[in-house]
Amino acid sequence: MALFSNLKALRNQVVLSLIVVLGCFTSPSAANFYRTSDITWGDGRAKIVDGGRGLSLSLDQYSGSGFQSKNEYLFGRFDMQLKLVPGNSAGTVTTFFLSSQGEGHDEIDFEFLGNASGQPYTVHTNVYAQGKGNKEQQFQLWFDPTAAFHTYSIVWNSQRIIFLVDNSPIRVFHNHESIGIPFPKNQPMRVYCSLWNADDWATQGGRVKTDWTKAPFVAHYRNFNINACAAGGACDSQSGNSWQTQELDANGRNRMRWVQQRHMVYNYCADAQRFPQGTSNECKRSRF
Ligand SMILES: *[C@@H]1O[C@H](CO)[C@@H](O)[C@H](O)[C@H]1NC(C)=O
Repeated sequence: MALFSNLKALRNQVVLSLIVVLGCFTSPSAANFYRTSDITWGDGRAKIVDGGRGLSLSLDQYSGSGFQSKNEYLFGRFDMQLKLVPGNSAGTVTTFFLSSQGEGHDEIDFEFLGNASGQPYTVHTNVYAQGKGNKEQQFQLWFDPTAAFHTYSIVWNSQRIIFLVDNSPIRVFHNHESIGIPFPKNQPMRVYCSLWNADDWATQGGRVKTDWTKAPFVAHYRNFNINACAAGGACDSQSGNSWQTQELDANGRNRMRWVQQRHMVYNYCADAQRFPQGTSNECKRSRF
């Protein structure tokens, strides 16, 4: 009560509510696929639905499908809600990633590798800088990603890249340019999403093939939210620009430790067999 006892506080409260209400009216347009994205692949297999709020991709024997953001960005926060191919999704790969074009490209990946019915999806993450990748980490999820929409986010600022699942950080890739590790920061990137067949490698190392009698396979995308800076520097910050300095606090570090201890199934930093000369130098730094 004391809080509202003076008029000034009340007025501030009204102004704040107005801003919140207006924010609710303006932000759905940010998540409109008509406005943000172009379907680029699949000859009718990709469809914008729900007045622009949703987009479905499908895959059959003849083709997959895909879309990309109209704009290129240099740093930003990108959120996508995804409901993955249900049932027997073995051989399929659903993607949500950022990439620049041309030689020596930069890339930040979320890829979802399908599996036989009842077997867990693998969430594959990777970072390329100036054409060099080999920084894979893979996870299994603590929920069924085909039963409902979940939010997958990439935060990309000049200091770090954070991968989040339902707002839980699962991976941070730090800017380690000071020890000679390239970091994506000069090449603008576009957002790309696709659903395609990769049964030569995706599921259990390529042993489990796509069952085409189950086609078409469909993945659903929703609420694509972009808070990012254009290649020219102007930043669209409808939901604020806290992503520009975002890092993990103690809670985030605890949460990520939990995810990595329980749900990480591959870590390039721990793969001595693949890197007999030693793993990359950033692996010797603290994990967080
Ligand atoms: C599929 O399930 C098997 C068995 O649980 C698991 O070993 C594998 O990592 C899963 N993911 C993929 C993409 O093969």
